[in-house]
Amino acid sequence: GALAAGTLGIAAWTQLRTINTGAPQPIVALDQVAVGDPYLFSYPTGNDPAILLRTTATATDIVAFSQKCTHLGCVVFLQADEDRWHCPCHEGNFEPRTGEVISGPPPRALGRIDVEIRDDTIWALGYQP
Ligand code: FES
Repeated sequence: GALAAGTLGIAAWTQLRTINTGAPQPIVALDQVAVGDPYLFSYPTGNDPAILLRTTATATDIVAFSQKCTHLGCVVFLQADEDRWHCPCHEGNFEPRTGEVISGPPPRALGRIDVEIRDDTIWALGYQP
């Protein structure tokens, strides 16, 4: 039983490793990002547009996503008045805090970037397409 559980754990860990890509790197100082004002950066490589959103004044309420729409890869932007990430190419829409699809042709949620605050700086820790 313990062996089976261990094997399962290793399988899950291996799976996680292949899904989560990107090395930890600092993005921006926390005080440079206003609540509700999206911050553009690149992650996991310099050619991967990404967006970060501070959803409340609470420092931990920060989400970050790939800016590439999961339909055909156009970049999404925040439509604050509609409370959504919007892709203008084919009217795809995503929930701003979770990245889940709200409407339109995108087949899945926006790729998620794990973030963490370290010494008043927002760090990206990994990317899950
Ligand atoms: Fe975004 Fe088609 S590329 S909806």
